[in-house]
Amino acid sequence: MSRISYVNGRYQHHLDAAVHIEDRGYLFGDGVYEVVTVVNGQMVDEDGHLNRLERSLSELTIKWPVTRSALGVILREVARRNKLRNGLLYFQVTRGVARRSHEFPKNVASALVVSAKHIPKLNNAPDPEGVSVITIPDIRWDRRDIKTIALLPNCLGKQQAKEVGAYEAWQVDPDGTVTEGTSSNAWIITQDGELVTRPPAHTILNGITRMRIIEIARQQGVPFVERPFSVEEAYNAREAFVSSASSFAKPVTKIDDQVVGNGHMGELTELLAQKYLEFVNQPGPA
Ligand code: PDD
Repeated sequence: MSRISYVNGRYQHHLDAAVHIEDRGYLFGDGVYEVVTVVNGQMVDEDGHLNRLERSLSELTIKWPVTRSALGVILREVARRNKLRNGLLYFQVTRGVARRSHEFPKNVASALVVSAKHIPKLNNAPDPEGVSVITIPDIRWDRRDIKTIALLPNCLGKQQAKEVGAYEAWQVDPDGTVTEGTSSNAWIITQDGELVTRPPAHTILNGITRMRIIEIARQQGVPFVERPFSVEEAYNAREAFVSSASSFAKPVTKIDDQVVGNGHMGELTELLAQKYLEFVNQPGPA
């Protein structure tokens, strides 16, 4: 089956889908994006993702390319045309196409692209062996709360992780605290059984999965605190995991050369991962 993508008003064969060379996303990284999970044909946390898109657009004064409700229709249509049961919808909005000049162009329509990716095993239970992460300096800018497409530091970090066989790189601020992964949020569970993740501020992207897991933790009565944690504290944690739209809650069993806990998925991580899976698998609106 051929893939279909959406580019500025047209559904096109994926291989033909292209934007103009003076799209400001291409020239300057002047755009924002979202990745939404699709499970059993339903978008997970659609509202949360559209709310965050709205916020990213507004922080950068990029116009909506279409109305919010029209975007919902387009996302569903791309999913439908790709027969997407389990996978991801990617959508990005850039400031639009204009002759190259750093300041914002006037009277230019923003540009929208949407694509779909099948991931058949997306909603499998996590591997109890977990994954490893490395720690690296956070070299990004001061507005990591905006989901910008300018992801070069994130790509450099992920590549560094990949080269040593790690799943993710946890970025670390100069004060020694972990900010987040290159494409996921970072969590630990202390020896006292307290779930810890960094509070949403300009220093991290407030993950939609992160917010959902916080809600689940509250429902489950898991002791929880939002505060920065150091690399040292993470080394000594009882459990650790990462969260994102594509990773769900994924156990971390090694940080740099330090084994976390007993080297297997911890109890609380398993509970949260399991409840999150139940949440994504629940039947959505018809
Ligand atoms: N990444 N932090 C960063 C830097 C991210 O890029 C992401 C998401 C997250 C988690 O956010 P959410 O739970 O809303 O997916 C945190 C997406 C999946 C990506 O870039 O592919």
